[in-house]
Formats: sequence, C-alpha cells, structure tokens
Amino acid sequence: MDASIVVVGSLNMDFVVAVKKLPAPGETVLGRNFQMIPGGKGANQACAAGRLVREGTRVRMVGRVGQDLFGDHLKASLSAAGVDVSTVAHSRTQPTGVALIAVEASGENSIVVASGANMDLPASDVEAMRRVFRGARVVLFQLESPLDTVAAALRIAREEGALTILDPAPAQPLGRELLENVDVLTPNESEALGLLGEPARRIEAGEAAELASRVRALGPRTVILKLGEQGAFLQSASESGHHPGFRVEAVDTTAAGDTFNAALAVALAEDRAMAEAIRFANAAAAISVTRMGAQASAPAREEVERMAAI
Ligand code: RIB
Repeated sequence: MDASIVVVGSLNMDFVVAVKKLPAPGETVLGRNFQMIPGGKGANQACAAGRLVREGTRVRMVGRVGQDLFGDHLKASLSAAGVDVSTVAHSRTQPTGVALIAVEASGENSIVVASGANMDLPASDVEAMRRVFRGARVVLFQLESPLDTVAAALRIAREEGALTILDPAPAQPLGRELLENVDVLTPNESEALGLLGEPARRIEAGEAAELASRVRALGPRTVILKLGEQGAFLQSASESGHHPGFRVEAVDTTAAGDTFNAALAVALAEDRAMAEAIRFANAAAAISVTRMGAQASAPAREEVERMAAI
C-alpha cells in the first residue's frame, strides 16, 4: 500500500545536555543530564506524523543512515512509531548523522549538526524513487539533505500530485525554481528574514503579515510563518491571518517546529481546512515543548485533539 505521508530528510542521533544558560562564544559551561535521543528534522517529522495519523494511514521515511548502531537505533525508533523505514538506506561511506544540543532552563536550545550519511542522498536516488511519491497526499521536506536532492524531490513529488511542505531549516538561500515547487513553506522568523537576505531579529507583532507576503512573493503558494508560542501567521492567495498558539510551560523547544509540520501534514492529508490544520499543528507543537527531547516529545493524537478541541 502507498504511504499517504512521505518525509524526505535527515535522521540524527541527538546528544542532549541540559544547561542553566547557553554558552556564549568561547565560553565553557557545566551541564547535566546527558541523554541520547533520536532526532533529525526529517525523522522527527516522520515520528510525529506516525504517532498522529489515524489507523490505516501510512507514513514513510526516505533518508540515509550509516552502517552503525545509531543508524539501526534511529530506524527502530521510527518503526516503533509506525513509520515505514524500508526507504531509509545505509550509506557505505558515511556514519549516521549526529546533533550536539544544549538546552537551557528557558527551553531555548542551540544545535550543531554533523550531517554524515544525511548528505549521502544524491538527487539521482530520489529520481529512482518516483514510485514512493506516487499516491502520497503530502510530502514533507527540510534542509538537512543536499539542496539539489531536495529540489529534485520537490519537483517529482509535485509531478506525482502530492502537496509539498518545506520547512526551510536550517536557514539557507533558496532559488525561485525550488520555491515554486513548494505548496506550503513554513519558516520561523529568522528563516523568513534569511530567505529575504536580511539579518535575524525579533519581528514586531504587526510585521508578520508583511513578512509572510514578502516571502510568498519568492515563489511558494502558501506561507505559514511559525511564531513560536505566538502561534503562526498564514498567507495564501485567499487567506491571510494570525492563528494564535497555546500557552504552556516550555521545557525544551527542540523539534517543536518539526512536530508542527508533521501535525499540519496529518491534518491536510485528512482534507481538513487550513485554519483547522494550523490549530491542530499549534496544539501538537505546544505539547511537544512541555517535554524533553526531539522524538521523545512527539505527542499522541488524543492529546492533540484534547488541546485543540477539534
Ligand atoms: O529540529 C530539531 C532537530 O534539529 C534535532 O533533532 C537535531 O537532530 C537537528 O536536526
């Protein structure tokens, strides 16, 4: 059976340390509670989607891990969430990706990724996997894979009739050709500014509409500007508006954006209206920040339905 939701992207083993305050450049700080937690923006989206879909809806992960224990562990973690990992291959030359993550008391984090096998996913392999996109309702992307692979996969997914969602993280410049194959682009504030060639800064509440519409002018059909605890701002050809987030006590914001995208994909694959899909996604992201870790924090469907009241 074809998967309804396909995720193309990264799988990392996250090395997580809790710190009082994130270190400044050149500073050493003492941390506590070292943990290894399955992560990677792609795998986080697949895991969260796997936990959120209704029975009978399939989620598939496309990516690369190394021939090592981390790779096996990451695949097992996704399988446990119900994700089909038969299209996660083992690189012959590169180790599994890892991410070094410091999380401070406020829930804010800093992340350094060693991509390893995630970058061993050539565009030609994706072309050979066209059948994987056939029949998919939604295909999810991020930017921890080679850019030409993301570009090729976006084009193929579109050709096969899927809705494409790109999380432009980590931030990098993107061409119009790539962005025109994106149905829904989901930058946070700094990624949106980066796409426009502007330095990162906190935007004012009244700026979201203008920022979202300037990003939309770069080529994607719809922009959902992720505003953290403030929720999200939607800008499409027919709709423009703020969708408030849910107030929670943040413990760790790692993978909140990944959970948002997964929940959005699940709701859109069920043909829900965009406003309802964003509410579902805001609720899923809010629950995820109340827990430590990336995949460890992905909520169950009942929890999200309860918070979103949909
Ligand atoms: O978005 C969070 C993720 O970014 C972490 O799980 C880490 O692996 C990096 O990819």
